[in-house]
Amino acid sequence: MTRNGDSRIGVVGATGAVGTVTLSLLAERGYENVRAFASARSADCEVTFGRRRLPVEEATPEVLAAGDLDVCFLSISASISRELVPHAINGGTVCIDKSAAFRLEPEVPLVVPEVNGDRALEHDGVIAVPNCCTIPLTCALEPLRKAAGIARVRVATYQSASGAGTQAMERLRAKRPEDLDLAMDWDFGGEEFDEETKIRDETRKIMELPSLPISATCVRVPVLVGHAEAVWVETEQPLSAEAARDLLAQAPGVRLVEAPTPAQAAGTDDVLVGRVRIDRAGGDGLSFFIVCDNLRKGAALNAIQIAELLPASRAVAA
Ligand SMILES: NC(=O)c1ccc[n+]([C@@H]2O[C@H](COP(=O)([O-])OP(=O)(O)OC[C@H]3O[C@@H](n4cnc5c(N)ncnc54)[C@H](OP(=O)(O)O)[C@@H]3O)[C@@H](O)[C@H]2O)c1
Repeated sequence: MTRNGDSRIGVVGATGAVGTVTLSLLAERGYENVRAFASARSADCEVTFGRRRLPVEEATPEVLAAGDLDVCFLSISASISRELVPHAINGGTVCIDKSAAFRLEPEVPLVVPEVNGDRALEHDGVIAVPNCCTIPLTCALEPLRKAAGIARVRVATYQSASGAGTQAMERLRAKRPEDLDLAMDWDFGGEEFDEETKIRDETRKIMELPSLPISATCVRVPVLVGHAEAVWVETEQPLSAEAARDLLAQAPGVRLVEAPTPAQAAGTDDVLVGRVRIDRAGGDGLSFFIVCDNLRKGAALNAIQIAELLPASRAVAA
């Protein structure tokens, strides 16, 4: 996707938490030829795009199939993505989808540019953006895997309200401090939340480690932006905390800090990693803490970075 000019870009879900950040990142990066789409409810609204205002168009199958968009960033529910993406592909548009709709389909690349960017070029019209916790987790695991192999991963997440969209942010803003609490607002499948299953399945797919033992426990905390993750990793070869720190300090997209917090991460592009130490529970284990802006690297920024891996021409499908 060429910057500053030629690419004709659509942002579907432009009024939402991720769509709003997608527009602001596209404007920051100098893209100009951008259209905003949402549901019929927003069709008379405008959204901010840099110094301009863009009219919001209704995202109908006909409009998306018209053939006048090169790249479309979709941040809408999985069910609406399933409905709209095939029409956009028919119109020759490359779809970069942030929902869970296509992530585990074998022929659809699931891409974190720092980990498996090459896979983006194998797309057949749609590229999936991983879950907002999986992206930073794989950015931190990849340099450790390359150096020492990964034998097992355990992760506990502390996820912000914005991970559940604009309405969840408004509900949190309306609460009094004494009413704040943890939440577990994902679909429960009997043993674990779908969010926990996504972290396992997506990490395995991105890292191409199909039987990696990995287990997650997810909790939503009363924080507006920034997902945190406590991670315990067992490596195949011994790796000291100092060596892990050195690897993480050089890893693309990662910034090593003392003790990352959501306030530090919100509004920034890096995956913050800190508190890197030997796991005192034993084995060849390390423990560390990750925090990332879930709306930027956890969603919108990762999607734009994927688009920037693609050749400038239209119809870039392999
Ligand atoms: N929030 C995160 O941190 C995060 C991270 C990674 C991935 N994701 C995924 O990204 C997607 C969007 O999440 P979000 O947090 O941005 O949600 P959100 O704030 O609730 O926004 C949803 C967007 O979808 C639009 N929409 C609803 N129905 C539509 C329709 N029929 N046609 C076209 N657009 C429609 C809404 O437009 P109206 O204003 O017109 O209703 C709104 O712009 C979800 O699949 C989510 O799982 C979110």
